[in-house]
Amino acid sequence: MCGIVGYVGAKKAGSVLIEGLKRLEYRGYDSAGICVQHEGRLHIKKSPGRISLLEEKLAGENGIASGTVGIAHTRWATHGEPNEVNAHPHTDSKGRIALAHNGIIENYVTLKQFLQSKGRQFVSQTDTEVLTQLIGEFYDTGVRPLERAVQAALREVTGTYGIVVMSADEPDKIVAARKGSPMIIGVGKDEYVIASDASAIIEHTANVVYFNDNEMAVVSRQGLRTMTIDNVPLTKEVQQVEFTLEQIAKGGYEHFMLKEICEQPEVLRQTLSGRLDLRDMRVVLGGLGGVMRELVKTKRLILTGCGTAWHAGLVGEYIFESLARIPTEVEYGSELRYRNPIIEDGTTVIAISQSGETADTLAAVRETKEKGALTLGVINVVGSTIARETDAGVYLHAGPEIGVASTKAFTCQVAVETMIALMLGRRRYMAQERMEFYLDALSQIPDQVATVLKQTDAIRDIARKYVEYGNWLFLGRGYNYPIALEGALKLKEISYIHSEGMPAAEMKHGPIALIHEGMPVVFIAPKGPIYDKICSNIEEVRARKGRVIVVATEGDDKINRLAEHVIRVPDAPPALQPLLTVVPLQLLAYHAAVARGCNVDKPRNLAKSVTVE
Ligand code: M6R
Repeated sequence: MCGIVGYVGAKKAGSVLIEGLKRLEYRGYDSAGICVQHEGRLHIKKSPGRISLLEEKLAGENGIASGTVGIAHTRWATHGEPNEVNAHPHTDSKGRIALAHNGIIENYVTLKQFLQSKGRQFVSQTDTEVLTQLIGEFYDTGVRPLERAVQAALREVTGTYGIVVMSADEPDKIVAARKGSPMIIGVGKDEYVIASDASAIIEHTANVVYFNDNEMAVVSRQGLRTMTIDNVPLTKEVQQVEFTLEQIAKGGYEHFMLKEICEQPEVLRQTLSGRLDLRDMRVVLGGLGGVMRELVKTKRLILTGCGTAWHAGLVGEYIFESLARIPTEVEYGSELRYRNPIIEDGTTVIAISQSGETADTLAAVRETKEKGALTLGVINVVGSTIARETDAGVYLHAGPEIGVASTKAFTCQVAVETMIALMLGRRRYMAQERMEFYLDALSQIPDQVATVLKQTDAIRDIARKYVEYGNWLFLGRGYNYPIALEGALKLKEISYIHSEGMPAAEMKHGPIALIHEGMPVVFIAPKGPIYDKICSNIEEVRARKGRVIVVATEGDDKINRLAEHVIRVPDAPPALQPLLTVVPLQLLAYHAAVARGCNVDKPRNLAKSVTVE
């Protein structure tokens, strides 16, 4: 995710800000930038890539080296490629206002059109430049001082933000505000350090002021003033930070994987944000606008990916066939690339990849594009190779995934597939009433995931109980069959316990021979049309004295009789259940790996991004 640092004090701002950016590196970024006030001007430098590249550009930059007030940013791209122009801080047309931003301005297209009608020219593809220009528009039409112009602009904005803003006309002042994106101010002796997380602050001071949504601050040499964005004054308490740097990087969690599992409610909200339009009850996917006419006429879909992304594709097969009524196949990237696939008119290939760099998935995209397919990317890393080479796509907005085992990227991939399927379904055959039913249910998923996460202690106890068993089975049906595969992959890759996933009914065609007394068998059995069938499969395992762990719907009492352990998920339509049922399996694998003393975030023999065949 992006990172923000700001400084007002007596030290050289340039070096404080660069050190602060380095403290935020762990969050992941693809470009960086800095802006320092000096002698009535804003001095800005930006660079794609590492902070060291930005540092190289600062040589001989006297304004940046000399000034004592400034802002800086590490960007994790959401709107527009990671390049110098799209990096923050952004300025208004006159170069007199500079702003760095974390979050997403959802209504940036409408605001941009308004500002263009006022004659404002844009240089970047970002939503952030739109907010900067909007503040500039208010400022230039007399809404002053800077904080009043910021307030006026924020009242027009839909979305999330943590921002720091400066004006060349108001020396020694930074305005900071937040809504849905963290903002903290460190209060030192005659200095203030503003940052999106405490890791950039604690080498300067342990005294901090935390901000809530819709609150803002004016930081200057005269002191710190706090208020709401509606300009109601606030009195904020100065608190003590008690974390080490490493604890902050992991958000207080023991491992990145656990942090990423637990942030799924938040990242799913971000993935859906601005795309689920609950006012007009439709799905808006700007990244597909240019190919929509061709996409709607798709006769056959091929979903491709590797590992967990392939499992997301398998869920997608069920979703696209039932919600959009498009015949769908799923292929491993590594198979599709060498299979000389038949690509007829009307074939669309969707490449699913967290990194956007997986060699086999990329090769499959190139092979099918060459043969005439329309290619789309469902990718997390903006500007990655697959994102650039596909004809269009939808980004996950899941933030950086650092744990090698993919978790939050998976749920966001499934959420994006669901939105694409609903959008296509509505344009092809789906009644508005049905669309509204799904949109309503999808909008509840982030909160429902949060409910599932509350069971982490109970899931840890289950993991500990069975962690010594060398073989596990994961069984599911329908939409939850791919979740069985994903549960088994998670367990094997981080705990090194052998596990297999399969459709529950397939068990009796061979694997049932494995079942013996005490063997852990995990069933994914939420309420739905095939619930009774899967109960029969559970009976088959019980008859052979396997230990049955079931992921079941809240309020399903019948299951208690069949299972040794029940993990609950809230009720949801079958097409959306994978977004909930995968979460306990991620936790089960995590706690099993911890119990076995494994290196959870960096399992043996595995790399985060497989860029070789
Ligand atoms: O970056 P990608 O999503 O393309 O990566 C695909 C797989 O390599 C990845 O999902 C892998 O299977 C993970 N280790 C699963 O946790």
